[in-house]
Amino acid sequence: MIEDQPITDKLVLKFPQNFLWGAATSAFQVEGNVRNSDWWRWEQTAQLPSFRSGLAVDHYNRFREDFDLAKLLGHNTHRLGLEWSRIEPAPGEFDPAEITHYKEVLEALKERDMKVMLTLHHFSNPAWFADQGGWENTQAPNHFERFVREVAPQLGEDVNLWVTINEPSSYTKSAYIVGDFPPQKKDFTAFLKVFWNMARAHKKAADTLHEIDPQSKVGITNLVVAYDSYHQHPLLKGPEKVAAKITDFLANRIFYPLSGRDSHDFLGLNYYMGYSFRLKAGLPTMQFMGEEKNDLGWGIYPKGLHDLLVRFSKFDKPIYITENGIPTRDENQRTRFLISHLREVHRAIQKGVDVRGYLHWSLLDNMELNLGFDPRFGLIEVDFETRNRTPKPASYVYKQIIENNGIPQELLKLSDGRGAGN
Ligand code: BGC
Repeated sequence: MIEDQPITDKLVLKFPQNFLWGAATSAFQVEGNVRNSDWWRWEQTAQLPSFRSGLAVDHYNRFREDFDLAKLLGHNTHRLGLEWSRIEPAPGEFDPAEITHYKEVLEALKERDMKVMLTLHHFSNPAWFADQGGWENTQAPNHFERFVREVAPQLGEDVNLWVTINEPSSYTKSAYIVGDFPPQKKDFTAFLKVFWNMARAHKKAADTLHEIDPQSKVGITNLVVAYDSYHQHPLLKGPEKVAAKITDFLANRIFYPLSGRDSHDFLGLNYYMGYSFRLKAGLPTMQFMGEEKNDLGWGIYPKGLHDLLVRFSKFDKPIYITENGIPTRDENQRTRFLISHLREVHRAIQKGVDVRGYLHWSLLDNMELNLGFDPRFGLIEVDFETRNRTPKPASYVYKQIIENNGIPQELLKLSDGRGAGN
């Protein structure tokens, strides 16, 4: 634990030594031309709005330039993904040229002295895998394991932290309940099957990674949402808290017991928002916490991150914030968001929570999945005509935080403290 320091003009809210600072991306959202994936194929159909991922951010070709910028902005870590559909374009057939590509990508990070968190699955699947029933197929965990067994020995040397699957809960919900990700189903039985197969796949992949290198550090990145009661009055608060607790268990935690707690060396938490439960006519309804809204209308609620960190500390595992960011075109808002959330992380660390890193979503403006290129999550602006990159003002504020390994007093003033909690 770090000493509690009084805040004076000279002081900084310090983070632990060797804290990992950086940003995250996913392959499909930035690389461009991911032609063998189910997403690409889905985009060619009429079910989607007018955008296509196309060249996306062209990170596939411009990764060195992007890593130069990340380095310039002070980042010491980067989270990125492999695109499974490039590496294994047909069942059991691996493309050596694509593995070489990713070797070069990881080497580029190493050359810049940056640590690597590598995601193996982030929403997109090879088209052949989707044709075989995708994650509903009972063989899906074996297919995923075959991929992991192929790439880990070739790329593992340059990986510090492995993420097997990004957000199993939001993937299954979007693809099999809401139906806004491919395969666009609304089928509760399929949802349960997929969730279970992803839990099995994570466990198998973690075992394989540990077998290949017993020192590997393996986890998932989990979308965590803060749930709480709306009312303070004890009569209303009671049932609202119960609804919040049940939802918290089902949405935020159930993957861990299902996949086996021991298969998680760390917890990767992706945090964007909180909801309160409000009893109306005896029934619980949900609404965003935080009065201020971002460009997609989500409430901004930094305190939720603190509360979740404290709750997740009960797992007794190191925690990394693997995503946290805001879709906005207002740099003052992004700056406030960044500082107020980091302040909440610091508050949790002061209470003894073992947080080891913070990776902002995202390094670059990118393709926000089914919502296209409008939402602007990047620390670096991308002009989608020219694909020129320009760091945004908030990225320099982040740089200052990284260089101080903490939040300097003068920056606290930039955040108006809204929602900073107490
Ligand atoms: C996902 C990202 C996505 C971000 C913002 C996370 O749930 O992992 O792929 O872009 O949220 O919506």
